[in-house]
Amino acid sequence: MTELIPAPRSVVAGPGEVRLTEHSRLYADTATEGVGHWLRTVLRQGTGLPLREGRELEDAGGDGVGLRIDPELGPEEYRLVSNGDGILIEGGGPAGVFWGAQTLRQLLGPDAFRRAPLRRDRAWAVPYLTIEDAPRFRWRGLMLDVARHFMPKEGVLRYLDLMAAHKLNVFHFHLTDDQGWRIEIKRHPRLTEIGSWRARTKTGHRASPLWEEKPHGGYYTQDDIREIVSYAAERHITVVPEIDVPGHSQAAIAAYPELGNTDVIDTTALSVWDTWGINPNVLAPTDNTLRFYEGVFEEVLELFPSEFVHVGGDECPKDQWRRSATAQARIRELGLADEDGLQSWFIGHFDAWLTARGRRLIGWDEILEGGLAEGAAVSSWRGYAGGIAAARAGHDVVMCPEQQVYLDHRQAPGPEEPVPIGWVRTLEDVYRFEPVPPELTPEEARHVLGSQANLWTEVMEDHARVDYQAFPRLAAFAEVAWSALPAPAERDSAGFEHRMAAHYRRLDALGVAYRPPAGPLPWQRRPGVLGRPIDGPPPNR
Ligand code: ACM
Repeated sequence: MTELIPAPRSVVAGPGEVRLTEHSRLYADTATEGVGHWLRTVLRQGTGLPLREGRELEDAGGDGVGLRIDPELGPEEYRLVSNGDGILIEGGGPAGVFWGAQTLRQLLGPDAFRRAPLRRDRAWAVPYLTIEDAPRFRWRGLMLDVARHFMPKEGVLRYLDLMAAHKLNVFHFHLTDDQGWRIEIKRHPRLTEIGSWRARTKTGHRASPLWEEKPHGGYYTQDDIREIVSYAAERHITVVPEIDVPGHSQAAIAAYPELGNTDVIDTTALSVWDTWGINPNVLAPTDNTLRFYEGVFEEVLELFPSEFVHVGGDECPKDQWRRSATAQARIRELGLADEDGLQSWFIGHFDAWLTARGRRLIGWDEILEGGLAEGAAVSSWRGYAGGIAAARAGHDVVMCPEQQVYLDHRQAPGPEEPVPIGWVRTLEDVYRFEPVPPELTPEEARHVLGSQANLWTEVMEDHARVDYQAFPRLAAFAEVAWSALPAPAERDSAGFEHRMAAHYRRLDALGVAYRPPAGPLPWQRRPGVLGRPIDGPPPNR
């Protein structure tokens, strides 16, 4: 009946319903005023009901909504009670109340997700029930790559709303890569003047013979970033910025050629990269590079209050370091074994630098190679192995294995799927994803902070393409990250897909261009990128 996604811990329903009307009031205690403001705003849009402010909880009695803190509950835990006294949402902290408010919106039906009411005379009913709910993980993330294809600010704010509707609370913002630098850095203006635009874009995967011959780019000003961070905070979402070093840096090197390995190649000849794959042009391990990026991170820390700062660390080919006299001299001077040691030294530098400023470093699992910096956390993307090794060594982990939660991978076999990435990750595959591998002891498993789904955007040139790849799988992921699901084999994926029938109506109201269960709509198909579908696993990165 309630068909909630993600599924709550428990729902006890009774006979009867609360009817919200134009007389209903909304009361929020001091600590939950922000949630009250959010709830009133979205429900006024969708329902047209004024939900006037109640001065005390009693004002919300009978047919109103009350929000308040119950210090007995955990910070993200909530209880939603709908009965003859009205609707009361209590949470251990404002975040818990906010997740309860998201549940209330789902209970009101799909039209509560619209931006304006369809008509004024309808009833808005919530069945009598008691919901007790709390998240399984504290890190329920989505990573969005805005470097390969820029998503203008409005699209990012929309994704924060979509995350909130699914009780996801960490937005991992992949801001820099070979193909674009997307954040204004005042002391290094060429990063965006030069680094945020590329002349043309490879269409399809990297073996494609096709190009889109027009410039692509864009970036967020520091005020745009402040707005995004503040909009996220209003939705109890933390934004974790990623500045990817020492690989994935060609856009930065194109802007400032001295950042590259100038004794190996002519870095002044580099431009912002216009194709996909793993790029050999990596940062030079020099003092100049360290000082440059300390300057970048100083501005990043001013903009992003999150505890964690992501430094990338993935896919850094060591070939240029092997050939560079400067890099080799650095290896000798530091007494390092090899180029992997140099990468660890580089990451270790920023680990110490961030730690001294009260932050924590997180990086892709390659940062394990050559020794993991103390205090660093790991995003385990090449399967579980990195995450298992890190957790065993006492490091915190976010599980995001590409085999399960890389949403750029195709959702079904078949020539009509628009994504030329061969691996198939179905809705059910995502639903059966388990973030905590059985190899870990309970003590080690405590280091699994949670999980995130990753959206790499090489083949997603606009928000409709991002929607198609993200949904419906992000809804399954949200349930994995939030709900207390049984072991993968025992999960009721048929029950989940039944509840999805109701959830698709919510996504319709929100204007999400998801992949329909029966396959892509004609306009969503894009089989012709290479003139043939790509099956098997052709790597796109
Ligand atoms: C990654 O997919 N390169 C983290």
